[in-house]
Amino acid sequence: MKLPPRPKLFDFHGVSMTHFFTQNWENVQNFQARPDDILIATYPKAGTTWVSQILDMLYFGQTSPERLTMLPIYERVPFLEMTIPNLLTGKDQADELPTTPRLIKTHFPVQFVPKSFWEQNCRIIYVARNAKDNMVSYYHFDCMNQGQPEAGDWNSFFQRFMDGNMVFGPWYDHVNGWWKKKESYSNIHYMFYEDMIEDTGREIDKLCAFIGLSPSAEEKEKVTSGVQFDNMKNNKMANYSTLPIMNFKVSPFMRKGKVGDWKNYFTVAQNEQFDADYKKKMKDPTLQLRCVI
Ligand code: A3P
Repeated sequence: MKLPPRPKLFDFHGVSMTHFFTQNWENVQNFQARPDDILIATYPKAGTTWVSQILDMLYFGQTSPERLTMLPIYERVPFLEMTIPNLLTGKDQADELPTTPRLIKTHFPVQFVPKSFWEQNCRIIYVARNAKDNMVSYYHFDCMNQGQPEAGDWNSFFQRFMDGNMVFGPWYDHVNGWWKKKESYSNIHYMFYEDMIEDTGREIDKLCAFIGLSPSAEEKEKVTSGVQFDNMKNNKMANYSTLPIMNFKVSPFMRKGKVGDWKNYFTVAQNEQFDADYKKKMKDPTLQLRCVI
């Protein structure tokens, strides 16, 4: 398969994006959500796949376990705004999902979400990850994924992240925008990657309370162990190894799965610069992200 050239970033309604996520804009905006749809919203590399796998196991692990072994995660949980030329779009995939509920993934900042999700009062699960680890993970992802703009070297990526010149825009606006939305829209469950690392079982319980599921102790144990990092890393249907656009020789999709890996990349000077800039951008004291646990 001939891989497409790496896309360029451009400004789209005030957010830097690539054509892979804007080409189908009208259709995506007109997507018809159903009241029982579940939208999984994240900034890229915040733990989307982890939460997607948890939800898929919780909902369908008992009733259609074959899904988990036969379908890759990106087919079980379509990426709404994804448009790869000559392939089914994420929107078409979502339209055609046979499951109830439909689990749908988006990386859109809150203002880009198609209005039917709000009108139908869909449940939305947002996952945030601390900016430093999120940046490091995003850097490796851009290095290994031909569908993303060139990562460049670490120092330039570091600057670009702080400037918000990333696909799906600034991390700062994304996590804050979704946080603020909770004030006017109550059907958002806002989760943190670091909490999931700290106690996956506790976070699954909270998630279940939000979606109204009560798995048995045995089912819950199955989910908790199935989504442990090593199990997902070795699971072909969860680890993206079936997508040729990703070069696992450069970096695997399931890379480290840790809190605090940023310390291996940030220089002392970069950390100081980052913290000073962060303080200016993250003014809301109610939104606290942990970069160590
Ligand atoms: P790292 O690159 O830091 O390892 P997304 O799914 O949003 O693209 O996020 C990918 C990040 O989540 C990667 O982070 C990946 O390793 C991590 N991740 C995925 N599944 C995980 C799991 N079961 N436990 C911990 N981290 C996980």
